[in-house]
Amino acid sequence: MTIRTIFWEDNTVVMIDQNALPQGERYLRCRRYEEVIAAIKDLTIRGAPAIGVAAAMGIALGMLNVFPSSEEELKTAFHKICEQFSRTRPTARNLFWAIERMKKRFAEALATRPDMVAQALVEEAIRVCEEDIAINKRMGMHGKSLIQDGDNILTHCNAGALATAGCGTALGVIRTAWEEGKKIHVYVDETRPILQGARLTAWELMKENIPATLITDNMAGFLMKQGKINKIIVGADRIAANGDVANKIGTYSLAVLAKEHGIPLYVAAPLSTIDMSIKGGDEISIEERDAGEVTTIRGVKVAPEGIPVYNPAFDVTPNHYITAIITEAGIAVSPYQESLRRLHDQITAP
Ligand code: MRU
Repeated sequence: MTIRTIFWEDNTVVMIDQNALPQGERYLRCRRYEEVIAAIKDLTIRGAPAIGVAAAMGIALGMLNVFPSSEEELKTAFHKICEQFSRTRPTARNLFWAIERMKKRFAEALATRPDMVAQALVEEAIRVCEEDIAINKRMGMHGKSLIQDGDNILTHCNAGALATAGCGTALGVIRTAWEEGKKIHVYVDETRPILQGARLTAWELMKENIPATLITDNMAGFLMKQGKINKIIVGADRIAANGDVANKIGTYSLAVLAKEHGIPLYVAAPLSTIDMSIKGGDEISIEERDAGEVTTIRGVKVAPEGIPVYNPAFDVTPNHYITAIITEAGIAVSPYQESLRRLHDQITAP
């Protein structure tokens, strides 16, 4: 069963509307780059790798629709579009990685075929999308060695096909193990405030008949104590050079609980999520989102009018809570400073 998260079709960007899931399976067709920006901001498309792909395609879409009269105008238009994408979701490292990659391609195309710049960007964006699927499959092949028959795996948020161009990171590992015939069961954290676990991960797992049970976030500790969970796998939005991991709010609490109960915590993420320019998690910028995500559930008010709200979308898990980081190039273990550097150096693109 293939879930098509995002694709390029007839000079438009098409994406599954993740706000409509699981009730409705419908696709949004973006004809203007501003629509892609809006879709990233309102979480129609979300998950760090998928955001990166959307930005790459959005930049290409924007450049297809500018008709400059000079090279200067072309450059100004390009950088203005990139700048707008960079202001959408600050924590998602893949967003900035994808923008850098498009900038590099833009400079190359401008130097060789200035008349073909937009076409070159379209081709690059499609490559970013296709490569992401291939990367996730490789991650799954590495990660499956960590999964055994009988495992009860907890996952948080959605790090599946929907959070990427396809297959997924944390769910990609689970999916690969399942496809190889491993008898596993997944506990899905609902993931408040906006329920990516309940709405998206549960939907993905059910679509493929992977045995799964939904729990609310505050149940995880009790299940660990009961011995019902023996592994945790999550994705990442940004990984610092020392292996500190920013991921969906609630990941840190799981990590602390996991240590208390002696349960391994694995993070699955592409190398493009690793930010070698920052030393540790304290430097990661954490997105804060609208209060309405906390005071309402799917449009229904659950809190009194006027209550002050704090809504950080992500938290940072210090590296010493993380058993291993699964990437497309292999599995990194502590000391992460060295192991991540070794793997990261294998990236050819920025
Ligand atoms: O706010 P979201 O839904 O974009 O947050 C997504 C996550 O936190 C995922 O775990 C992360 O991006 C990894 S997805 C492969």
